[in-house]
Amino acid sequence: MLLRARAAAPRPAGAGTAYDFFWARNALYHGLRALHLPPGAGVLAPAYHCSAAIDPILHAGARVQYYRIQPDCSADMADIAAQMDATTRALLVIHYFGFPQPVQRLAAFCRDHRLYLIEDCAHVLVGQAEGGPLGSFGDVSVFSWRKLLPIQDGGHLVVNNPALRVDLPPRGNGVLLAAKAVKNALESALEGRPGGRLLAAPLRACALPRAFARAPDALAASSRVERSQGRFDPTLAHLRRSGVSAYVVRRTDVAAIVARRRRNYQALLHRVARLPGVELPFPSLPPGTCPMIFPFVVPGRDDVHTHLRAQGIPAVTWEYVAHPELPLDRFPGAAALYRRLVMLPVHQSLGEAEIAVMAAALERTVRR
Ligand SMILES: Cc1ncc(COP(=O)(O)O)c(C=O)c1O
Repeated sequence: MLLRARAAAPRPAGAGTAYDFFWARNALYHGLRALHLPPGAGVLAPAYHCSAAIDPILHAGARVQYYRIQPDCSADMADIAAQMDATTRALLVIHYFGFPQPVQRLAAFCRDHRLYLIEDCAHVLVGQAEGGPLGSFGDVSVFSWRKLLPIQDGGHLVVNNPALRVDLPPRGNGVLLAAKAVKNALESALEGRPGGRLLAAPLRACALPRAFARAPDALAASSRVERSQGRFDPTLAHLRRSGVSAYVVRRTDVAAIVARRRRNYQALLHRVARLPGVELPFPSLPPGTCPMIFPFVVPGRDDVHTHLRAQGIPAVTWEYVAHPELPLDRFPGAAALYRRLVMLPVHQSLGEAEIAVMAAALERTVRR
């Protein structure tokens, strides 16, 4: 990974002006600020989300107007129209797990109601909707390449509306965070390689002292990054993509990753579709879609992911990722997705054997 020849960096969204950030949440924050929303303006956002997509809206001084998501993860157009009011200025749409939302219709709705469209492509590596690539429809669009490429940081902002200007602070990441990014990249490159544990030992030994938490700004960023977990921290909003992340992305065979993820998704689809009681929000893989994970629901069962984890399968749900201010009792559909939508990995490093193990574990679980 670190030694490959340089290739053209992927430009997934087409023609807009692009900016690189440490995380997609930073990209969202700076994209929102470029909209110059009046204080208290409403931004429509889905009730099924992760906090990191909602925090930047609130920190940009706007109010979130939540809308419903259907069981197949598509945006509920009727509820979007119902939630909108005179204060609404923007609509955020999430292409869950890399699968396209009806983005043409959403863009037309925004045009008709003079709203900005924010395309959250945090789960998208590459993708197509009718009329263009995902990320090319929003006035601003964000990506989180770190979720799909072998990098630990890497968010991306694309500004498609030529009237919008992004105002970026001149501050860099600081030398300590840059060093840590290199250390993390080396550690993950060595992981699972013959002799990797031995070679990584000296790297592990230079863990950053906790005292840096109280150190001046540029130093402290490094430890605050570790503590921020899935939340947006406005004091880290200026962080850009690390040099080592840009280096690895330029040496990554994106087309091969897309092909392997698609192959793994299709293989799981083939095995899981015939299991009784399993519902699939995305029962087919549209051309050009690169799946982030394989989602499924077993209606009435909240324990599927814990049973899978007990069998060694890294299955997860979004049970704890909703923003604390979301009034979940008003959104029973989203509440069911948080509890029951289980995500299985389709990572490019997985092969036939691992897919078969996952499918067999799922079969045992649903037949219990
Ligand atoms: C839909 C969505 N948007 C935005 C984000 C934020 O991405 P990042 O972790 O790169 O800030 C996430 C991540 O968890 C996400 O799932």
